[in-house]
Amino acid sequence: MNETLPLVVANFKANQTWDDLEIWLETVGPPAATFTGTIIVCPSMPFLSQASPKIKSAKWQIQLGSQDISRFEQGAFTGEVAASQIADQVSYAIIGHSERRCNFGENFEILTSKVENALKAGITPIFCVEDSESPIPENVKIVAYEPAFAIGTGNPDTPQNAQSVSRKLKAKGDFIVLYGGSVNKENSKSFLASGIIDGLLIGSASLNPDIFLDILKSAS
Ligand code: PGA
Repeated sequence: MNETLPLVVANFKANQTWDDLEIWLETVGPPAATFTGTIIVCPSMPFLSQASPKIKSAKWQIQLGSQDISRFEQGAFTGEVAASQIADQVSYAIIGHSERRCNFGENFEILTSKVENALKAGITPIFCVEDSESPIPENVKIVAYEPAFAIGTGNPDTPQNAQSVSRKLKAKGDFIVLYGGSVNKENSKSFLASGIIDGLLIGSASLNPDIFLDILKSAS
């Protein structure tokens, strides 16, 4: 799909129940129609099969993404969710988030398999990198610059440095570049202002639907 910019991703991590997510969707869904960019929400895996028909039947301008995907195509891999199993529910998958790299030992080889499996299933990877030197698997088109020091710390990178990293990433390929790490409604605009960063990947500030709507407004 061709994403309109800015592209704003809500990453709920291991937060929210289905009831919370329903309220979030019903709050963000109607006003989402006036947002000219792309909204992608990434709830926990068990809620995808309920969220997908709800979004489709309401015709909300919200895309669904997963927070991860298996490195394996299918088979005897207990606990894993293969890309092909959720391909009818999600259009996107976050791959290589630093929390996966640190807590689950995901290295470049594993992440490359994940990207390949996502693409094979028709899912667009949103590939997270630590800096402009981090390797990026082939055929990735959306890259999220997410420095670990900024994630969940309340200590975001400066817009200037994030823009400089975005410039370097764009010099390497025709990427849509997002910034993520302690984005909130006060600082969101500053990252997008120059037009060098194409969107945002938001964790904790995305959980409250009213705050998320404020961020969308500031990003418009
Ligand atoms: P944060 O998380 O906005 O809570 O810092 C960002 C992320 O992990 O993508």
